[in-house]
Amino acid sequence: MTLTPELVTETALFLKAQGFHQSLAGIVMGTGLGTMAEKIENAVSVPYSEIPNFPEATVEFHKGHLLFGKIGNVKVVAMQGRFHYYEGYSMQQITFPIRVMKEMGVEYLFLSNAAGGMNPAYKKGDLVMLENHINLLPDNPLRGLNNPAFGQRFTDMSHPYDRALAESIERIAVLQNTSVKKGIYVSVMGPNLETKAEYRWLRAMGADMVGMSTVPEVIVANQVGLKCAAISVITDECDPDNLQPVNIPEIIQIAGKADKVLSNLFTACIKELK
Ligand code: HPA
Repeated sequence: MTLTPELVTETALFLKAQGFHQSLAGIVMGTGLGTMAEKIENAVSVPYSEIPNFPEATVEFHKGHLLFGKIGNVKVVAMQGRFHYYEGYSMQQITFPIRVMKEMGVEYLFLSNAAGGMNPAYKKGDLVMLENHINLLPDNPLRGLNNPAFGQRFTDMSHPYDRALAESIERIAVLQNTSVKKGIYVSVMGPNLETKAEYRWLRAMGADMVGMSTVPEVIVANQVGLKCAAISVITDECDPDNLQPVNIPEIIQIAGKADKVLSNLFTACIKELK
């Protein structure tokens, strides 16, 4: 796919014809983190496979749906399931839905993901808000784009995550009696998990948690001017001195448990948006 602004517009027009409206908030739900979908009232749901210009779904993503509805008085558009680089998609495919969200009026983007905790203070099931990230993915969604309609090529990343949104989430967490930590997320290609040596290296470079997503979407969100908030659910403890073999069903189960708490947080924060 050669990305053009016309493709983005075509997809947005299709969605409007399906009953999607201009929306204020966008949501990207990570692996095992789908409870947000239940918070959306009177949701209109369209499978990714029916949306023009969306990437062709892999088997894993037959379930992928784009949702539109309201959380409180705020119109939202939500991705139930995201596209990952390790599945074989290009960076521009992975981030195409973010450009469509922008075209649909979105100003705020909420993202969740499952991540491995390398900071020894993190336990399985913890919620950690991204205060910054390190991009180790081998490609960039802005590479090759030279049409100014997409935004600045040399996108500023001095504040990739919005400070006011982060403050709202921290305030709401106190009200909801939930603990949210803050940390630095490093994105890797995967899909294999890291070796002990790699966890040591990632920790030494300053990262608190590691995952295989989120950063491409945040880069594009910054290019098009969306304010971002992202939260990781820590699904495994990556202590190189005591590394346990990965257990994917356990990762999904832990994500599922934390998911309710996470979606209550995002929901309350979205309701306050104006
Ligand atoms: N590494 C990379 N991605 C992950 C991990 C991890 O340990 N856990 C969940 N996603």
